[in-house]
Amino acid sequence: MKVAVLGAAGGIGQALALLLKTQLPAGSKLSLYDIAPVTPGVAVDLSHIPTAVEVKGFAGEDPTAALEGADVVLISAGVARKPGMDRSDLFNINAGIVRNLVEKCAATSPKALIGIITNPVNTTVAIAAEVLKKAGVYDKNRLFGVTTLDVIRSETFVAEAKGLNVVDVKVPVIGGHSGVTILPLLSQVEGVSFTDAEVAALTTRIQNAGTEVVEAKAGGGSATLSMGQAACRFGLSLVRGLQGEANVVECAYVDGGSEHAEFFAQPVVLGKNGVEEVLAYGEVSAFEANARDAMLDTLQADIQLGIDFVK
Ligand code: NAI
Repeated sequence: MKVAVLGAAGGIGQALALLLKTQLPAGSKLSLYDIAPVTPGVAVDLSHIPTAVEVKGFAGEDPTAALEGADVVLISAGVARKPGMDRSDLFNINAGIVRNLVEKCAATSPKALIGIITNPVNTTVAIAAEVLKKAGVYDKNRLFGVTTLDVIRSETFVAEAKGLNVVDVKVPVIGGHSGVTILPLLSQVEGVSFTDAEVAALTTRIQNAGTEVVEAKAGGGSATLSMGQAACRFGLSLVRGLQGEANVVECAYVDGGSEHAEFFAQPVVLGKNGVEEVLAYGEVSAFEANARDAMLDTLQADIQLGIDFVK
């Protein structure tokens, strides 16, 4: 397996690259690309870690060499939030970066599974889809918005709140990846019950968890280490699916035929072609049904912005 990380010199990219270097299956290749000149050095640094994963680094304007033969491409290139910004403020810069990088993917590694980390994910995934359609290589089963950070935050916060062992806690998160579009399905957490007040407080905390980090970093950026871990978990799941492992399930923001929106985060089974099956997200509580319905205008507008940007 060859995994390429675009934006590899950044806060997320370096954390992700480190985790992949130590956790990808033996014999894998890790390809790092960033416009920052330090990128080949990041690769040399990682190459001194004794695992059977070969690392190469590429810098400059053209990611083509990094993308050749890639099975999985994870994109975290772009700018991150500062205090007072929300994810949509990143659109002006990141939209063009994602468009250009996905154009290169379409030309060089059109069969790769692409995971978009760059915000605003609700919109950048729609941009990627339009670019791939224009190039004639769009396969909806191979494009993902990476929403795993919402899942791992939900698992952590629920375990903390209820005194549970975090490895046993599973929380599906549906919708999108910004503010009210992030909807943890707390009613589906097994073996726990929450009061209405707990559901409201936990949901709000999960939706605003990114801002918690942005404010705590006080101008130094947004989540990088937890996001590196989230992207590693998701990237390894893509690889496990590609390698034929059964029952690999992750929540992701996909073009999965949802009745709610063209792109919607929900559980999917991953396999040799990316999405094997989009799973129904199951029964939801009245609170969750209201929150789902209330998010749809925002989510659909975010998606339309991406479609219009490419057209
Ligand atoms: P960062 O600023 O530390 O790193 C971004 C990297 O992208 C830099 O190394 C920069 O040189 C590189 N870059 C910029 N333009 C490029 C291009 N055209 N080609 C290749 N590389 C390019 O930012 P950080 O913290 O790593 O965040 C990256 C993105 O991830 C941001 O958009 C951020 O909002 C997003 N993010 C997404 C999350 C999610 O849950 N999906 C969570 C946290 C952040």
